[in-house]
Amino acid sequence: MAKKLTQPTRELVFGDLWEFDPAPESADPKLKKRYDLFINGSFVAPHSGKYFSTINPANETKIADIALADTQDVDSACAAAQRAFVSTWGRMPGKERGKYLYRIARLLQDRAREFAVAETMDGGKPIKESRDFDVPMAAAHFFYHAGWADKLEFLAPGRQIAPHGVVGQVIPWNFPLLMLAWKIAPAIAAGNCVVLKPAETTSITALKFGEICQEAGLPNGVVNIVSGAGETGAAVINHPLTTKVAFTGSTDVGKIIMRSLAGTEKKMTLELGGKAANIVFDDASLDQAVEGIVNGIFFNQGHVCCAGSRLLVQESVAEQVLAKLKRRIAVLRVGDPMDKNTDLGAINSREQLTKITELVKTGVAEGAEMHQSACRLPTKGFYFKPTLFSGVSMSHRIAREEIFGPVLSILTFRTLEEAVEKANNTAFGLSAGVWTDKGSRILKMSTLLKAGVVWANTYNKFDPASPFGGYKESGFGREGGKQGLLDYLKLI
Ligand code: NAI
Ligand code: MG
Repeated sequence: MAKKLTQPTRELVFGDLWEFDPAPESADPKLKKRYDLFINGSFVAPHSGKYFSTINPANETKIADIALADTQDVDSACAAAQRAFVSTWGRMPGKERGKYLYRIARLLQDRAREFAVAETMDGGKPIKESRDFDVPMAAAHFFYHAGWADKLEFLAPGRQIAPHGVVGQVIPWNFPLLMLAWKIAPAIAAGNCVVLKPAETTSITALKFGEICQEAGLPNGVVNIVSGAGETGAAVINHPLTTKVAFTGSTDVGKIIMRSLAGTEKKMTLELGGKAANIVFDDASLDQAVEGIVNGIFFNQGHVCCAGSRLLVQESVAEQVLAKLKRRIAVLRVGDPMDKNTDLGAINSREQLTKITELVKTGVAEGAEMHQSACRLPTKGFYFKPTLFSGVSMSHRIAREEIFGPVLSILTFRTLEEAVEKANNTAFGLSAGVWTDKGSRILKMSTLLKAGVVWANTYNKFDPASPFGGYKESGFGREGGKQGLLDYLKLI
């Protein structure tokens, strides 16, 4: 039985102590009122003539109309990709392909502020994250893969390799541009042509990326962007011309995709949900760990597949860690994502807010103790307070299901073996964190934890050279590094 964690706290409200002056980001996101599909190098109206709205979740105002691609549009996009593959891209020497990727990377850097603002407006993430993480990392993925384009033969020495041809890719709304970069950069570096579907709440930066492809002079049809909802995604995945598919999103949709592709020749990689254990041993530097825990669960409002959403703390330091966490979340700034001081921005959509709210209710109903920051939330838009649950046991839904919001479940353990057993007792296996002073313990834990990524004394660290992906219901295949690139090539 985990010891009940209680700690008297003095709730701090930001406004009661001091208030920062607003520091709004002022760059122009250069938005259009209407976004068409990007097919064969041009922006084209959807065949059905239908558009859907995308809103700013921070204030619920409409930003733009986004084209809804149907099966005919997906058909044209796949045909354009196939033509580009056969006529130019698939035969182009790697050295030449690399030049286009370098160009894309540099253009993304040139337009970084514009893209960061557009990303924040469309999806709700704090501007400091889109500015300092999403956009620079997206450019870094193109730079990294540009370097590989003429060195592919070193990926599999002694073997012949070849691109798949047309690749169908479907991405989620939590890192819209970055997920696009994770998907498109390795695919085209390897010589494939792509049809990508962005998530319905966050299509703008993907369609703006079409402009970058034009500016870079990328041959027509190498990259095609078809916006729409699940049906459009299914059309991309199931299209007869897509010989390889890559999906990032929920485990439920991952299962649908696996079922629909079973028995076909298509190659697939799936990057799905997670419920990562972030494990704090009593010899860890606790202040450093608290910063890592906060980053692990509150980065991007917790809309992160590898979020450290299950904190496992060694019992002897559990009360201390909880007290520190409560003090820390009291000073997190929640609100306008466009303010440069904001730590937690808007929840991506009303649906996601409802899902978080419902799961949090189950946490209270099942007997865990809830601690929320006393911050004031804006009256318009979708927001959720940074939330901690102590006294959580493994059977609680909040310990098992992906909440995908700023909600941390805290469990305790006594021995290393118990920590490993609890950490691995999940349907997922995407990531984990270990906080300890001992290098040998880090090595032991990283061998015993069934997770694709194990961070030690840090959390949420990414690099294009470092492969990322999961075990079990977190999916299969890797993105990033040599392993990720190999998933876009066939060995012959
Ligand atoms: P989702 O998995 O439905 O959406 C991801 C992408 O898949 C979107 O582009 C969507 O349009 C597309 N899609 C939906 N149905 C499809 C189908 N049948 N065939 C092909 N593509 C399809 O995720 P959703 O509904 O936005 O979020 C639901 C929950 O999923 C979240 O609350 C969160 O827990 C989890 N999620 C996890 C992500 C992760 O990276 N681990 C990312 C997004 C959501
Ligand atoms: Mg939006």
